[in-house]
Amino acid sequence: MALREIVIDGDPILRKISRPVEKFDSKLADLLDDMAETMYLDNRGIGIAAVQVGILRRIFVVDVGDENGKLEFINPEILEREGSTFYLEGCLSCPGKNGYVERPERIRVRAQNRNGEWFELEADGLLAICICHEYDHLDGILFIDKVVELTEEQLAELEAEEEEE
Ligand code: CO
Repeated sequence: MALREIVIDGDPILRKISRPVEKFDSKLADLLDDMAETMYLDNRGIGIAAVQVGILRRIFVVDVGDENGKLEFINPEILEREGSTFYLEGCLSCPGKNGYVERPERIRVRAQNRNGEWFELEADGLLAICICHEYDHLDGILFIDKVVELTEEQLAELEAEEEEE
């Protein structure tokens, strides 16, 4: 395992479309392990896409600290999106920045694991948000493209919802 350097906003590679993974080999396994190590360093991130370490492949790793632990997604497709919520996001590639982004409340996603086997997952809450954020990276989209200014009413509503949970 090795740390990889994080690509920072401004580098044009972050705006490119990542290509599907075709080979499920030891090189892919090494990349996935390195991505996780880079994400976990100093507890900085809950998700990382391959393009953020300079590899234009449709791969991301997430760990939002719930019972699912670390999840690896290769060639993912989001099959269903339901509901709407706002979450204050940040990104390893956009240091010092954050902002509210509208995301679905629940999603159903299909992807391959590191052995090339397909799996399906239903996710809600932070995991759904994180998967959508990482999925955007595969198409060259950053959260800063989607940041919305919430009204004071919307912010108060969000705070009330968070207190309920
Ligand atoms: Co990001």
